[in-house]
Amino acid sequence: MQIGFHSQTFYLGDWQQAWQARCPSWSLVNAQQVPIQTLEALLIWRPSQWDWRAAKQLKLVIGLGAGIHNLQQDLLLPPGVPLLRLQDAGMARAMCEYVHYGVLHFQRQFDRFARAQQQNRWLTELPYQYSQHTRVGLLGLGHLGTAVAEYLAKQGYQVSGWSRSPRQLAGVHCLHGLEQLEYFLSQQDILVNMLPHTAQTEGLLSRQRLQQLPRGAALISASRGAVLEQQALIGLLDSGQLRGALLDVFTQEPLAEADPLWRHPRVWITPHHSAPTLIEPAIDEILAILPRYLSGTS
Ligand SMILES: NC(=O)c1ccc[n+]([C@@H]2O[C@H](COP(=O)([O-])OP(=O)(O)OC[C@H]3O[C@@H](n4cnc5c(N)ncnc54)[C@H](OP(=O)(O)O)[C@@H]3O)[C@@H](O)[C@H]2O)c1
Repeated sequence: MQIGFHSQTFYLGDWQQAWQARCPSWSLVNAQQVPIQTLEALLIWRPSQWDWRAAKQLKLVIGLGAGIHNLQQDLLLPPGVPLLRLQDAGMARAMCEYVHYGVLHFQRQFDRFARAQQQNRWLTELPYQYSQHTRVGLLGLGHLGTAVAEYLAKQGYQVSGWSRSPRQLAGVHCLHGLEQLEYFLSQQDILVNMLPHTAQTEGLLSRQRLQQLPRGAALISASRGAVLEQQALIGLLDSGQLRGALLDVFTQEPLAEADPLWRHPRVWITPHHSAPTLIEPAIDEILAILPRYLSGTS
């Protein structure tokens, strides 16, 4: 059996090597170089424009990441073919590391030390800020948000989380629904965006909502850029209402060369790399899914 692979960003050769070691009986092939009618499953990420509707044997498409909002909009698939996303593929651990780095950055005041260094200034007067006095709020308590919230709670931070429906997590103060959002925001020293991009979450972090954070709060945005109004963020950083931001995701990616965020002294940028799909754990997850959808396999 051949499993089709199509991505503009992932290199097929890397995936084939790991795939062969785990599943020599099925081949992973370039989906654009085999007859489209033979494809039974398709692994896809950041696709080029391609019409898959002639793939009449297709039983399943798997997006090689956690966010498949764009794939849902862009892919032309035969009707009724399910589009699944990867649940973890190593991403939860990577996201915990990334957010912990960002939280430490602000808690241990590396932003202030970096500015002092620019001025050759020996800055000793900053008080030590305890992790147990640092309030961190996770917007979104799904697979990744929950992993990060529980991880930070174990490190001793005061962690709370906000989601659509009620949740209960050990060591995490959970709130939900739009009616609790303003109170949730007002309680955070560091806000972490872990929301997916949907019609409801687009622009959710507007100027008005960001202003509900306490003066001097910091933002870590690591899920999807469209949740955040970037212009509003810049204005609030300029006015000192917000202290700084660590941003991994943007409304437009790659971030345009002329974008003012690049040079903003209170912004730290990473190129959508907080939790990359890791090939080996991703293939393990895919191999656990495929038999449920493909006939004649077990
Ligand atoms: N930057 C990167 O490298 C990277 C890597 C992986 C993933 N991501 C992004 O991270 C996002 C989150 O991943 P995940 O696996 O945690 O997603 P998930 O399991 O789908 O969880 C989404 C969470 O957001 C909440 N939510 C969704 N819509 C909401 C709304 N309108 N109001 C309030 N809460 C809402 C959900 O609440 P309920 O539980 O109540 O439904 C849930 O808690 C992905 O969608 C992806 O875009 C980024």
